[in-house]
Amino acid sequence: MTIQDIALIHEWHPVLLSSVLTDKPEAVIVLGEKVAIFRTTQGVHAFKDLCIHRGVPLSLGKVKGDELVCAYHGWSYDACGTCTKIPSLPKEQVIPSKAKAYVYACVEAHGLIWVCLGTPAGLLPKVSAYVPEGFKEVLMGPYTLQAAGPRIIENFLDVSHLMFVHEGLLGDSDWAEINDYHVVEEDGVLRSDEIIIYQPDADGTGRGVNSRYVYEVFGPLCVAFTKRDDVSDHIFRLFLMVLPVTEQTSVAYMLKQRNYAYDERDEVFIQFQDRLIEQDRIMVENQKPELLPLDLQAELHLKCDRLSIAYRKRLRELGVTFGTD
Ligand code: FES
Ligand SMILES: [Fe+2]
Repeated sequence: MTIQDIALIHEWHPVLLSSVLTDKPEAVIVLGEKVAIFRTTQGVHAFKDLCIHRGVPLSLGKVKGDELVCAYHGWSYDACGTCTKIPSLPKEQVIPSKAKAYVYACVEAHGLIWVCLGTPAGLLPKVSAYVPEGFKEVLMGPYTLQAAGPRIIENFLDVSHLMFVHEGLLGDSDWAEINDYHVVEEDGVLRSDEIIIYQPDADGTGRGVNSRYVYEVFGPLCVAFTKRDDVSDHIFRLFLMVLPVTEQTSVAYMLKQRNYAYDERDEVFIQFQDRLIEQDRIMVENQKPELLPLDLQAELHLKCDRLSIAYRKRLRELGVTFGTD
């Protein structure tokens, strides 16, 4: 399969929790492409999951001496993808130069392993530029969803669902009106004005407050919101990063940053998010059409959907086709 998407191919995608990758290679799928991930003493690596010899997945192999050894006939590939050893080849014969593995960019950051199938714009994923000092980070996920990546992102940006899908937690249906707000673009980041929402339990610790949300769109599948309230100096920022596996299957990860409750167990926040995701799942896995329509005439929009409209326009400008219609 050749990936047609001219935008997502150059993005960093979160493929695995760092803790999952031990000394055995793992198989993942990014934009429908099978990728083998493995760890050596030099770091993490990603190869196309196919041995050029007889087409066996390299993820079935093993890591030996910082090289990936194919399970079928033992060809050994170094981190650059160069085949350094073909056991069946007599010593005096040279290894054919075509004997190579196809290498993808791969990094480890924020407790995740990230892969880019094209040419990444930066050395690190976009979230790395936003690690405020003194904040505590908690990683959440993976959450596998039978939904298109852009549908999942748009659900996260959709402020008027909070009072219904997450009633009693992130909203109250008696207070469903959304204040007028605008979306501006600065340095390629889409940012909303503050949107104020009454939340009976804003973060899982049971505090009822008026939350002030600012949403940000960093990339096609990387967004965040920052929320503050009127009664404390708490700042809570939640990133959502989505791995597009196939057009209608995705894996979501979330990174929460907070400047309060340092001693609170991470589990409290993780369990809260797990609960919210299950509520969202029912929506995003049942939306029709499954792929996010980028034609603004295709669905009905209200003023409060400004952020979704801006997001759809952005995807269109970037040329995102995977998971969109
Ligand atoms: S298929 Fe990989 S070494 Fe033969
Ligand atoms: Fe939600």
